[in-house]
Amino acid sequence: MADYFKINNICAKYGDIQVLWDVNISVAKGEIIALVGSNGAGKTTTVRNAAGLMIPSSGSIEFDGANMTGKRSAEYAEAGIILVPEGRQLFPEMTVYENLELGAMTKAAKAKIGENVERVFNWFPILKERRKQLAGTLSGGEQQMVAFSRGMMSMPKVLIMDEPSLGLAPNIVDNIFAIAKDIAKEGGLTIILVEQDVRKALKIADRGYVLENGEIRLEGAADDLMHNDEVKKAYLGF
Ligand SMILES: Nc1ncnc2c1ncn2[C@@H]1O[C@H](COP(=O)(O)OP(=O)(O)OP(=O)(O)O)[C@@H](O)[C@H]1O
Ligand SMILES: [Mg+2]
Repeated sequence: MADYFKINNICAKYGDIQVLWDVNISVAKGEIIALVGSNGAGKTTTVRNAAGLMIPSSGSIEFDGANMTGKRSAEYAEAGIILVPEGRQLFPEMTVYENLELGAMTKAAKAKIGENVERVFNWFPILKERRKQLAGTLSGGEQQMVAFSRGMMSMPKVLIMDEPSLGLAPNIVDNIFAIAKDIAKEGGLTIILVEQDVRKALKIADRGYVLENGEIRLEGAADDLMHNDEVKKAYLGF
């Protein structure tokens, strides 16, 4: 049942300018959802609403039977909804370890920092080597590993990633996506993945949504979207 996490008919505005129109996205527990679309389509706006960083002008956000609409982002985090933002947004003057520590936002996560840092270091041994290095001096790929890991330090139930692949070498992206998929499939994590790399996103996703000009244009099984003529032409380059 795709009613674990629901973005229900949301509209969103910046001032007087409306940028989302009746966006509906329903996610089942443990599912990986790809949200794709061109620059300016409204992907970031959608996930900011989904993580409580913006309040939709109409519509609602529901999680595990609870209405989250209008709650503060800290309450979303406490409920288990975590956004790994576009552009990573690490604290560059703090070490890798300190950035990870700051990811443990909830009470439950704070009690398990040691355990969860070990889990992160198992996924990304390079971060263990670099734990005392300032985050701002890491390579782009390492920074994305930290951003993803910082999100995982909160022990999220729904992890929303906004364009994690941006500017990274394909093998690094594959590595991070493979780990995310393992966690989803073995640990029951639910993932919403915003991506411009539509091919990579649809490859790891169960289902996908295509956003165009603030509206959902297409949705379906990832395999079907991968073979959809419109998607192929607009996003896969043939
Ligand atoms: N803070 C803001 N104030 C005003 N308009 C905004 C703001 N943020 C985004 N917009 C506008 O809202 C629309 C959707 O932007 P959004 O960032 O959600 O798109 P996106 O799909 O994430 O794009 P990209 O792929 O470039 O990240 C765009 O037209 C953008 O100019
Ligand atoms: Mg964006």
